[in-house]
Amino acid sequence: MDKLIITGGKKIDGEIVISGAKNAALPIMAAGLLASESLILSNVPHLKDVTTMMELLGLLDARLTVDENMEIHIDSASPGPHNQTPKIHAPYELVKTMRASILVLGPLLTRFGKAHVSLPGGCAIGSRPVDLHIKALQRMGANIIVENGYICCDVPGGRLHGADIYFDTVTVTGTENIIMAATLAKGTTTISNAAREPEVTDLIHCLNAMGARISGINTSTLIIEGVEKLSGTKYTVIPDRIEAGTYLIAAAITRGRIRLKKVVPSTLEAVLKALEKTGANITCGDDWIELTMSQRPKAIDIQTAPYPGFPTDMQAQIMVLNTIAEGTSTIVENIFENRFMHVQELARMGANIQLHGNTAICHGVEKLTGAPVMATDLRASAGLVLAGLIAEGKTCIERIYHIDRGYERIEEKLFQLNANINRQA
Ligand code: EPZ
Repeated sequence: MDKLIITGGKKIDGEIVISGAKNAALPIMAAGLLASESLILSNVPHLKDVTTMMELLGLLDARLTVDENMEIHIDSASPGPHNQTPKIHAPYELVKTMRASILVLGPLLTRFGKAHVSLPGGCAIGSRPVDLHIKALQRMGANIIVENGYICCDVPGGRLHGADIYFDTVTVTGTENIIMAATLAKGTTTISNAAREPEVTDLIHCLNAMGARISGINTSTLIIEGVEKLSGTKYTVIPDRIEAGTYLIAAAITRGRIRLKKVVPSTLEAVLKALEKTGANITCGDDWIELTMSQRPKAIDIQTAPYPGFPTDMQAQIMVLNTIAEGTSTIVENIFENRFMHVQELARMGANIQLHGNTAICHGVEKLTGAPVMATDLRASAGLVLAGLIAEGKTCIERIYHIDRGYERIEEKLFQLNANINRQA
């Protein structure tokens, strides 16, 4: 299994291009199931999760090609001339490797009237139930039973109908599944307390380009008027705000300088405000962000929240800043029940953190020391990479397949930024 070896102490210095957003690309690829014409996507990041989604779409009878410009073409064939049954089975073997596979549920149901999708199961950060997805689809007319670990659905009469959906917990993929299901349903669907993440907005823009009728964009109340069919389109996925935030923190904690190109600063407001409070100097243009940090960061209190609040996917990364910041800080994780797996590993590097339920109290120390550590989930691993950049000596991070799911060529980008890092098979 690959590992990353990092020797700390060098300042991040340089500029990089930010890749397309994993959490926008995955739902948008699933939307390829909604149309029988080509959906052509550019700026899709080359990540394990993207390959897994391509594999899953292939099992569902979509034809996928990647052209010379690295654009992904998705052609979801209509059921054949002899009306052979469309492929609607998403197997456990594949779904267990990527929870976002649940995003094929809404498209399959609304396009083909049937779906047989494995329950994604939990992961390191929490139980990750999908009860809100299921309840909402039932309100739209789907018959759903969960048996032998599968979500087995069919739609009497073959077509979902619009409904008023209220999510009592903000759910990103739940919102995305219902948006996609509603695009071809009969009548109008309203989603209240919808997720407003930029990746949800990106999916909506793509669906509207395919002929969907979705309004209320960027608000927590979405209205979707069902249409008879959707067409293909060419679409460019937005840049990854979490990748961008991760590299900004790399520059801040090493007291360096970084310029990020091909980003959307407005999608990072909560992160930029937090970093400015730690003492970072930040300037932004239309599609770039520059950060310089000349002194030890000041500690900052954080509460994770649904967008536009501070993203839970940046919690491990900002915690690393707090471990070596001046002062004591609290980080409250309000989204997932077990998203402090990085704390024990950081403690092995000399961090001083106390856990009280969903609250971490960090007492800033002068420095961390390198150690062999283990990645447990995608963003915790990114946090360990950041810790390795500032720790004295060598840090060896094992199980970095977690990182490869969400960060494109992380060691190349960090090497380009003057870090002392290499990947070892
Ligand atoms: C999405 O996960 C992201 N994944 C996650 O990013 C991200 O951390 C999360 O949203 C929160 O922003 C993708 O977009 C592919 P949720 P998702 O449904 O949709 C509870 C990463 O690192 N809930 O918004 O699965 C749930 O338990 C990944 O890139 C229910 O109770 O998260 C959680 O406490 C990690 N029932 C809260 O809602 C449901 O049916 C928010 O979860 C659904 C969710």
